[in-house]
Amino acid sequence: VHIDWDVNAAEKGGYEHFMLKEMYEQPKAITDTFSPRLKDGKIVIEELGMSDEDIKAVRKIMIVACGSAYHTGMTSKYVFEGLARIPVEVDLASEFRYRDPILEEGTLLIVVSQSGETADTLAALREAKSKGVRVLGIVNVVGSSIAREADNVMYTWAGPEIAVATTKAYSAQLIALYLLAMKFAHVRGELSDEGLAEMIEELKELPAQVEMMLNNQNKIQKFANRYLAARSIFFIGRGIDYAISLEGSLKLKEVSYIHSEAYAAGELKHGTISLIEEGTLVCSVLTQEELYKKTISNMVEVRTRGAFVMAVTNVDNTEVEKAADYVVYIPKTNKYFTNSLAIIPLQLFGYYVAVGRGCDVDKPRNLAKSVTVE
Ligand code: G6P
Repeated sequence: VHIDWDVNAAEKGGYEHFMLKEMYEQPKAITDTFSPRLKDGKIVIEELGMSDEDIKAVRKIMIVACGSAYHTGMTSKYVFEGLARIPVEVDLASEFRYRDPILEEGTLLIVVSQSGETADTLAALREAKSKGVRVLGIVNVVGSSIAREADNVMYTWAGPEIAVATTKAYSAQLIALYLLAMKFAHVRGELSDEGLAEMIEELKELPAQVEMMLNNQNKIQKFANRYLAARSIFFIGRGIDYAISLEGSLKLKEVSYIHSEAYAAGELKHGTISLIEEGTLVCSVLTQEELYKKTISNMVEVRTRGAFVMAVTNVDNTEVEKAADYVVYIPKTNKYFTNSLAIIPLQLFGYYVAVGRGCDVDKPRNLAKSVTVE
């Protein structure tokens, strides 16, 4: 008997692409990243190597990363600042390393990297260490350079990621950063015992909720098929929703080669609203209740200029239907966790646009999974 054994196909476990398989592995990546750190209703991150006193002494956090990892940093800026009231600066590693950053005592530098080998991120880590700042790595690849050189390393347990466009490592990075922010907020007295317990419960619901979002696959595929010939697609949002927009836009453009930009929703009108034409797709992300009204008014602005508006929003925000042509709802979660759910339809959208256009989804042209040169 001759059996055709295609290793690649076998590794894909029946999925057409690694990217799709890895999107489906997100509930597991999320669970595997939080569960070892939840003990008796508390967050325990031993590998942090920081006592409660050390955590209380932190005066500023700097998060440095590249690409999608940088977007998780942007999201967690809102989480750390909102929840723990610690000022956070987020930098692209390639910028940070050459701007002679001011690193004062009491600064904690967090570098985020899937591969742990990104040259710019590694250089940023070395720069910070040489100035005596404590560096925490959030890394997926065990034993990688960043994992070895950081003072402490908190692993994301997403497992090996093959597709160039990151999905499950991104989702796991978000979880690691949420855990840190919750821990810091609790230790510093900004989050009560009850508040923490409630957030832990909400965190535990995420894997099933992500699964639910993934089950929208067919609906998103149908929608994506309408945009295979799009010239340009925009993403808008405010606060955390801006960070989600950046990642949604990156996913789409890196795999489909369609030009895309993400804008802080209030900024689009300062010039580039001129790019909106009849039928241009604008994806609007609205997961922060206090900003619904503001973003809805930006949706109206683009719609009156001919845009077709897709919205990703919380299940209770039916108000949005007035200003959107197509709505995807996410289930109820903590306001700081919405990225984990809202990103799923945007990942699926990018993926299906790319598939529909016949692109090499797992290996987009010109891109590398790990960029070890400058
Ligand atoms: C490359 C990849 C991106 C990734 C970035 C940072 O450009 O294509 O998907 O986000 O590097 O990689 P890292 O391994 O440091 O997370």
